[in-house]
Amino acid sequence: MVDMDTLVSLCKRRGFIFQGSEIYGGIGGFWDFGPLGVELKNNIKRAWWKAMVQDRDDIVGLDAAVIMNPQVWQASGHVETFTDPLVECKNCHHRYRADELKSDACPNCGMRGQLTEPRQFNLLFKTTVGSVEDAAALAYLRPETAQGIFVNFANVQQAMRKKIPFGIAQIGKAFRNEIVLGNFIFRDREFEQMEMEFFCKPGAEDEWHDYWRDARRAWWKRTFNLAEDHLRVKVIRRDATTIIGPDPEDVKPEKPPHYSKGNYDIEYKFPMGWSEVEGIASRTDFDLSAHQKSSGKSLEYFDDETKEKYLPYVVEPAMGVERAFLVALFESYREEPVRDEKRVVLRLPYALAPLKVAVLPLARNRPEIVALAQKITAEFKRHLMATYDDTASIGRLYRRQDEIGTPFCVTVDHQAALPDDEKYDGKVTIRERDSMEQVRVSVDQVVSILREKLA
Ligand code: GAP
Repeated sequence: MVDMDTLVSLCKRRGFIFQGSEIYGGIGGFWDFGPLGVELKNNIKRAWWKAMVQDRDDIVGLDAAVIMNPQVWQASGHVETFTDPLVECKNCHHRYRADELKSDACPNCGMRGQLTEPRQFNLLFKTTVGSVEDAAALAYLRPETAQGIFVNFANVQQAMRKKIPFGIAQIGKAFRNEIVLGNFIFRDREFEQMEMEFFCKPGAEDEWHDYWRDARRAWWKRTFNLAEDHLRVKVIRRDATTIIGPDPEDVKPEKPPHYSKGNYDIEYKFPMGWSEVEGIASRTDFDLSAHQKSSGKSLEYFDDETKEKYLPYVVEPAMGVERAFLVALFESYREEPVRDEKRVVLRLPYALAPLKVAVLPLARNRPEIVALAQKITAEFKRHLMATYDDTASIGRLYRRQDEIGTPFCVTVDHQAALPDDEKYDGKVTIRERDSMEQVRVSVDQVVSILREKLA
């Protein structure tokens, strides 16, 4: 597997990801997604939304506000318990998460025995709302999108007349003032979550928990075309932590989060080791009951058929878009020898590729060739992300498209564009990214042929 530095450099060079506020020296934990990054991110989000909302009858969508009434975060337990244990080196003042340190020596300056006792550091970002900066106007940036779903449970259920079991899905930004960063976009202070709260009858939660473990694992495998041994599930119960899948001995005991009676964490095999990409929590009625108590509003569900009234239990698959972005890159990156040279290629699944087709004129000094290539590009653009590029030799243009994962290049030459040319055949060349195979097809058919291949 490629190392992180190589990917970071590719991401910057090719316009996937830039350091946030780079010209001012950056700001830790914040990243900007460039022209290709935003496409890849949108494609990942689209794949999730399709699987979780569009393809199903039992899940609906929501887009709640980032800033909520601060009582939400009191009730949810985040103000009190959303903390990490922080220690500081008295010698060099570097700060660490106590649970991530391996010894009493500072990883930065190497001094032993200089670390402070851990204190609980709250990860919530604070802000103020309104024109008066007093305590009454204190608010928080949401550290998870989930609470927007819980406080809208009754609204959505009633407006959409949903019957339990059903789910509410949401994609949106979340913010955490993380103590430790690193590993590129793996852990950020601003990131995007895709979360779904699935409401079920108390007692049915274990079955749904297993259902969502399997459904989400299958989604990761097919969306990113993952190798069999690159994914595993960590089972976090209150009394034990175990692994389903590869390297079962490589696991540290953990506790589920404060709101969960048990978690299935989906882990990917990154170069830095197995790390969580999605958490599937069994949240019981922890949140609905806390909000019911704190708000004084009933959040109970009434079952018309059985005439029962109850607070639903919740199973929550929750993943981060940035981590999925990294998985897409790590899983698809290849360096391959081609005629004594090395080619870098992102073998991204077609649905994730930022650009689907690049149209390349073989001679940019021939107006007929350029005009035809631009006409074909315009036709592609009506249906999909396509680009026209004539800024380098054809070999270099292919390399560039390989490196950003474009599945197909279409090359326009004399034979396609110059009816007076003795070899004229009205055909262009399609070149496929992974096999590098080239086939010639007629100009009239190239768009429909490629749309079919990409579908
Ligand atoms: N609502 C449940 C929840 O927020 P979580 O395990 O804290 O659970 C869910 O977060 C997912 O969000 C994680 O699996 C991870 O993919 C992503 N995530 C969490 N913190 C992150 C951070 N600081 N940077 C990037 N992604 C993060």
